[in-house]
Amino acid sequence: MMNKNVEKAINEQINKEEFSSRLYLAMAIWCDANGFPGGAEFLYKHADEERVHMLKLVHFVADRGGQAKLMPMDPPEQNYKDLLDVFQQIMKHEEFITESINKMYGVALKENEFTTANFLQWYITEQVEEEKLFSTILDKISLVGTDKAGMFHIDKELEGMAASKTVPSPEDV
Ligand code: FEO
Repeated sequence: MMNKNVEKAINEQINKEEFSSRLYLAMAIWCDANGFPGGAEFLYKHADEERVHMLKLVHFVADRGGQAKLMPMDPPEQNYKDLLDVFQQIMKHEEFITESINKMYGVALKENEFTTANFLQWYITEQVEEEKLFSTILDKISLVGTDKAGMFHIDKELEGMAASKTVPSPEDV
């Protein structure tokens, strides 16, 4: 049986990953409506990835004899200033997620839940990748500034990144 504090922390993380998926979906919808089809494709896919992050936790709780709890959540922001604003907010959100995962890992260690801590290693590594990915994209957008041709190029690049990515199932990650 899973320790109650660990289960609570995992349920809260399930909520955050679910929110991440919804946030990126809202951003994808904004990109679609504002002339960034590549950004939209990239973020639709990333929203799916966040759902996989959520499901992986849901399955873990079930495998340990628990039952994941879905919680209410506030709607994400649906209006953005520009593509830079979108990716700045993603970066901020991912830093928040990293902090949250580190705290969850801390709870698992404190409660001597080493199996859970071991499982959470995947999320720690994943956050390094996520932050690296978004900071690279953010740097590129910042460099381009408001230049329209540059922005078009960035959007094409995002389209390419989306095309080369397949969203795995939770069992495969
Ligand atoms: Fe689930 Fe983007 O971290």
